[in-house]
Amino acid sequence: MSEPRQILVTSALPYANGSIHLGHMVEYVQTDMWVRFQKHRGNQCIYVCADDAHGSAIMLRAEKEGITPEQLIANVQLEHSSDFADFLVDFDNFHSTHAEENRELSTQIYLRLRDAGHIANRAITQYFDPEKQMFLADRFIKGTCPKCGTEDQYGDNCEKCGATYAPTDLKDPKSAISGATPVLKESQHFFFKLPDFQAMLQGWTRSGTLQDAVANKIAEWLDSGLQEWDISRDAPYFGFEIPDEPGKYFYVWLDAPIGYMASFKNLCARRPDLDFDAFWNKDSTAELYHFIGKDIVNFHALFWPAMLEGAGYRKPTGINVHGYLTVNGQKMSKSRGTFIKARTYLDHLSPEYLRYYYASKLGKGVDDLDLNLDDFVQKVNSDLVGKVVNIASRCAGFIHKGNAGVLVAGDAAPELTEAFRAAAPSIADAYEGRDFARAMREIMALADRANAWIADKAPWALAKQEGKQDEVQAVCAAGINLFRQLIIFLKPVLPLLAADAEAFLNVAPLTWNDHASLLANHQLNAFKPLMTRIDPVKVQAMTDASKEDLAASQTDTGSAAPQGNGELVKDPLSPEIEFDTFAAVDLRVALIVKAEAVEGADKLLRLTLDIGDEQRNVFSGIKSAYPNPAELEGRLTMMIANLKPRKMRFGLSEGMVMAAGPGGEEIYLLSPDSGAKPGQRIK
Ligand code: MSP
Ligand code: ZN
Repeated sequence: MSEPRQILVTSALPYANGSIHLGHMVEYVQTDMWVRFQKHRGNQCIYVCADDAHGSAIMLRAEKEGITPEQLIANVQLEHSSDFADFLVDFDNFHSTHAEENRELSTQIYLRLRDAGHIANRAITQYFDPEKQMFLADRFIKGTCPKCGTEDQYGDNCEKCGATYAPTDLKDPKSAISGATPVLKESQHFFFKLPDFQAMLQGWTRSGTLQDAVANKIAEWLDSGLQEWDISRDAPYFGFEIPDEPGKYFYVWLDAPIGYMASFKNLCARRPDLDFDAFWNKDSTAELYHFIGKDIVNFHALFWPAMLEGAGYRKPTGINVHGYLTVNGQKMSKSRGTFIKARTYLDHLSPEYLRYYYASKLGKGVDDLDLNLDDFVQKVNSDLVGKVVNIASRCAGFIHKGNAGVLVAGDAAPELTEAFRAAAPSIADAYEGRDFARAMREIMALADRANAWIADKAPWALAKQEGKQDEVQAVCAAGINLFRQLIIFLKPVLPLLAADAEAFLNVAPLTWNDHASLLANHQLNAFKPLMTRIDPVKVQAMTDASKEDLAASQTDTGSAAPQGNGELVKDPLSPEIEFDTFAAVDLRVALIVKAEAVEGADKLLRLTLDIGDEQRNVFSGIKSAYPNPAELEGRLTMMIANLKPRKMRFGLSEGMVMAAGPGGEEIYLLSPDSGAKPGQRIK
């Protein structure tokens, strides 16, 4: 037997300003399955994570909600923890980057880098919001694209033409926070001298630490030359202040990966068997793996190893990168109901269905993976219920009826038992190499063989014949033993199914090596159905519920919400406005002349509005509250008549009607008192 390995594993730290969705779950489920596999094999494997709690997005969101950032991140941490727990993601520790351990480690690493000469500082010029009195990150500046002239684009790239540019290139820039015109202002910034680590990175990224596709991408970056990395932000900022530099804070991405160490350190304080230094010292023999999505490779494969090297710590053994989730072949979309939060899924479906489906789709590469909802139902029902659980349910009854639930000794299917044992190393290799799809294929091929063998022996037919009771018992005992082997192989993916199977089999928690043995003369417990089929109605209910999350006022453009720190920007704060701004709004009484559903749009009504001297065509996302639009005809409402017309997929929308409420069925169209006339201005 080889010595158990010591392995420390992380998943990327989710931002503390948003909910976990099924895209995130690709990562946490994948990592959890890998960690469970290592533990199953008898290795010491520690899995840590944390919320990524710093940055201006979190600061601004807290401000908007009228709470402190500390309260916000505490609330979100509870939500995230329960989402993960309910998806059976079993962290050894889930911490926060806003924690004392992280402050100490970030400070120490920064000082070591500074003292070794790896920190530069110089003044840079940036946009500054004179009202809000803060510097503006690119995502908080909006303006007109310098290339194509589209209005209302972010400071770093244009969603219309795809151009990337500096925020200073934007025409007519505005602060997305206050609406003020930003001014250019100088400030001292601190830089991590990444080019100092060029040679180290060239070697490290080619030493088997990265998947080929990732290594190639990094090679391009290395070839084009590394830039110094700006690691400071000015107050106000939610984060850690830089030592000896009052008013300067570490950029969130500086202390985020250090959060991996901090979470582990926090765990060590309660686990005397774990030694922080043994995992992080330069000469550590422990393995260290970071699981991440493809969008954050530069932080993990360039900045992070360089920081570790510069500060005298060990570097990761591997960075395991996965692709992005699509749903039904497209980017997750709020309007299609495919932007599914972890909690919304859990409200309707069992976590193991998705864990298995992801496993069946996850290879070792960085390709995107698709959650096709029809395929999901079909695959889970056919593989887990139809193949795996079916073996036990076919056999258990005969053993309980015919032999008081005792498995007879002997092996009626020696060739199959041997084939299952022989497959174990290959299945283990697939898990080890994160080729979960191959592992699942091989396991299901074994399940097919077991089912075919049982069908051939047909214990249900034998049971009706005289003198065949021994054969029935022998066949069913073999069936149950094959089922047990399959459960051992599937346990990292399906821990609940495995626990229920262990209860039925009346055995201690199964470990990988148990696959080599058989149960004999063994009392089973009563058989309870181990897994039920997915009812497609529940999947529909889940996507319907996801659509309800979408505010009714949003128009049906079919775009996904931006991820992570960008999320806030689409949901801008409501700054105070001057009277003049208000007075510029042309509010009118409008008569709804016609109201009809729009083909191809789930939530939109097309309204024809009479405002006295003219008629307007307005699309409004209120269909969920008014499924019979005709009932609106003849009714008065209020509209904004001078809103710039907006071209939509279905035509031009020439204004907006006013409604209140959270959305869904709760949308209340505003109406004036009787007596008001179409076209009258509202003052
Ligand atoms: N806070 C940073 C990570 C800091 S790590 C020191 C971050 N957070 S995140 O919440 O945006 O993403 C967390 C992880 O989920 C990332 O690895 C990201 O790639 C992954 N995913 C987020 N959306 C995803 C999909 N739609 N599909 C697959 N993975 C996705 O990045
Ligand atoms: Zn453009």
